[in-house]
Amino acid sequence: MTVFGHGTFLILLYLDKFLTGILHYVTAETKFKLSNLEIKLDKSQPQKPVDHWKEKQEALLKWKASFQNQTKNNLTSWGYNPKANATPCNIWTGISCNAAGIVNMINLTNSGIQGTLYEFTFLSFPNLEYVDLSLNQLFGAIPPQITSLSKLIYLDLSYNQFSGKIPPEIGLLNNLQLLHLNENQLNGSIPREIGQLKFLNELALQTNNLQGAIPPSFGNLKHLTTIYLYNNQLSGSLPSEIGNLKSLVELCIDNNNLSGPIPSSLGDLTNLTLLYLFKNNLSGTIPKEIGNLKSIVDLELSQNQLNGSIPTSLGDLSNLEKLFLSANKLSGSIPQEMENLMKLTVLQLDTNNFSGYLPQNIFQGGSLENFTAHTNHLIGPIPKSLKTCKSLVRVRLEGNQLTGNISEDFGDYPNLQFIDLSHNNLHGEISQLWGQCPQLATLRIAGNNLTGRIPPEISHATQIHELDLSSNSLVGVIPKDFGRLTSLVN
Ligand SMILES: *[C@@H]1O[C@H](CO)[C@@H](O)[C@H](O)[C@H]1NC(C)=O
Ligand SMILES: *[C@@H]1O[C@H](CO)[C@@H](O)[C@H](O)[C@H]1NC(C)=O
Ligand SMILES: *[C@@H]1O[C@H](CO)[C@@H](O)[C@H](O)[C@H]1NC(C)=O
Ligand SMILES: *[C@@H]1O[C@H](CO)[C@@H](O)[C@H](O)[C@H]1NC(C)=O
Ligand SMILES: *[C@@H]1O[C@H](CO)[C@@H](O)[C@H](O)[C@H]1NC(C)=O
Ligand SMILES: *[C@@H]1O[C@H](CO)[C@@H](O)[C@H](O)[C@H]1NC(C)=O
Ligand SMILES: *[C@@H]1O[C@H](CO)[C@@H](O)[C@H](O)[C@H]1NC(C)=O
Ligand SMILES: *[C@@H]1O[C@H](CO)[C@@H](O)[C@H](O)[C@H]1NC(C)=O
Ligand SMILES: *[C@@H]1O[C@H](CO)[C@@H](O)[C@H](O)[C@H]1NC(C)=O
Ligand SMILES: *[C@@H]1O[C@H](CO)[C@@H](O)[C@H](O)[C@H]1NC(C)=O
Ligand SMILES: *[C@@H]1O[C@H](CO)[C@@H](O)[C@H](O)[C@H]1NC(C)=O
Ligand SMILES: *[C@@H]1O[C@H](CO)[C@@H](O)[C@H](O)[C@H]1NC(C)=O
Repeated sequence: MTVFGHGTFLILLYLDKFLTGILHYVTAETKFKLSNLEIKLDKSQPQKPVDHWKEKQEALLKWKASFQNQTKNNLTSWGYNPKANATPCNIWTGISCNAAGIVNMINLTNSGIQGTLYEFTFLSFPNLEYVDLSLNQLFGAIPPQITSLSKLIYLDLSYNQFSGKIPPEIGLLNNLQLLHLNENQLNGSIPREIGQLKFLNELALQTNNLQGAIPPSFGNLKHLTTIYLYNNQLSGSLPSEIGNLKSLVELCIDNNNLSGPIPSSLGDLTNLTLLYLFKNNLSGTIPKEIGNLKSIVDLELSQNQLNGSIPTSLGDLSNLEKLFLSANKLSGSIPQEMENLMKLTVLQLDTNNFSGYLPQNIFQGGSLENFTAHTNHLIGPIPKSLKTCKSLVRVRLEGNQLTGNISEDFGDYPNLQFIDLSHNNLHGEISQLWGQCPQLATLRIAGNNLTGRIPPEISHATQIHELDLSSNSLVGVIPKDFGRLTSLVN
């Protein structure tokens, strides 16, 4: 137990007031450390042990009295008990104590509290290690006095309506391992002092109104495993110091206003499984070092201004399951090395400036569910490996210059719901096999050079509600079973 280990001015004040009450519960070791003080304080008027709990109870009740709605919260167990040693530990909802009987945790998650922290007497609880006030309706500022909780390991204020700035003083809580301030209305910039929280493991500041740059001081937080900063208005460039955070597993800064390049140092994050940078304003090329992210499972860089071509090193990411590169300015051909990504379930390459052929074996992994490459300048045939890829759910290849006779390019797909091949240069006949896709809801092959008739077998795909075969050279009649289609364009 190191309750009085630091001997700071702050803690001495606390001792002066409550020492004898506390001593009732502390260990021999601590008593020894405090022996001088004890003697000194004994000369003054010592308070009885009950006063320790009286003061804690009063502090909590004062805070509760400040709530806007006294009936909404579920703190009915909170009531003053004048008996000696009447501890709120484990009796008052959400108040827990350590083995020595000292309040070390306040957990009032999802307790219907509507109020502020302004009446919370932080100085009364200097031994708090865990504070979880998530999922309430707390509002107003986060008081800088929160730094009195110098032992704090765990601070979760997420899912409330806190506003104003994150107090820079939070950098003094140097034992913090977890800081969750997400889903509030915090504004201003992220204080660089957060870079002093050297034991921080999890940082969650997402879904606020935070502005300004990501402080380079984040590079000091060597123990960080997760950084969630998404859904803010952060700007400036991504500090290359993030590459120092070798323990990082998840880095999510999507839906901000970051500009400048993706630093090549991110390639050093070999434990990273998830990298979300989509919906920003990042420019320049995808650094080839991204190919060093051996653990990455989900890489999402869509909706930026990235240019250049896909580095062939992406083919080394053998654990990759999701790759999102949509809506950038990427060009060049899609590297054949992408065929090595055998675990891909989602591959989104649409709305770029890609040219050349699609790699012929891109579907060989057999796990791909969602594939989009629409709105590019792709040429050449539909990859042969697509025919046998039974896992497909959604396929979008429209708006390219794909060529070939498609009558034998497609198989039957048990899960396929949506396929759009419109506005390419495909020719040949419509395969009967579309009728053997039991989930198929949308089939679009408009704006090609299809010939022949619509095979009546298509109507065996009983889920189909949109069939767009317009702007082709089809002949004959519409099979009569199609009466139930809600949308049929021919
Ligand atoms: C307080 O909360 C209760 C229960 O949610 C609700 O019925 C009551 O209208 C609220 N009172 C005020 C003043 O908001
Ligand atoms: C607080 O309590 C909830 C359930 O009541 C639990 O899920 C959560 O882990 C607790 N928080 C801490 C810090 O122990
Ligand atoms: C508090 O009450 C709410 C409903 O008002 C309930 O959803 C929640 O589970 C309760 N929380 C606790 C910790 O009992
Ligand atoms: C932050 O929000 C507070 C109130 O919530 C407001 O007074 C202040 O102007 C805002 N600051 C910025 C920089 O937007
Ligand atoms: C990376 O992950 C492995 C396995 O979980 C772990 O043993 C190792 O310590 C991690 N590396 C860092 C730098 O955290
Ligand atoms: C994004 O940042 C740029 C400067 O880099 C600025 O001009 C623009 O207004 C910002 N956009 C938003 C939505 O904040
Ligand atoms: C991207 O940056 C440009 C130039 O800095 C700016 O004009 C534009 O508003 C930014 N876009 C977004 C979505 O913030
Ligand atoms: C990418 O765009 C930048 C301007 O933002 C330009 O200087 C650079 O030449 C482009 N690179 C490629 C490979 O197109
Ligand atoms: C897209 O690529 C074509 C060549 O395939 C090139 O002519 C065009 O300038 C590129 N457009 C953009 C916006 O990069
Ligand atoms: C593929 O898309 C469907 C429909 O949008 C979605 O339900 C499914 O979760 C996606 N698959 C993956 C692996 O994300
Ligand atoms: C397309 O291929 C099929 C099967 O190989 C063949 O029967 C048909 O004549 C071809 N159609 C065109 C228009 O070349
Ligand atoms: C469609 O195919 C016919 C015959 O194969 C050909 O004469 C015509 O040019 C093609 N039209 C287009 C738009 O490719």
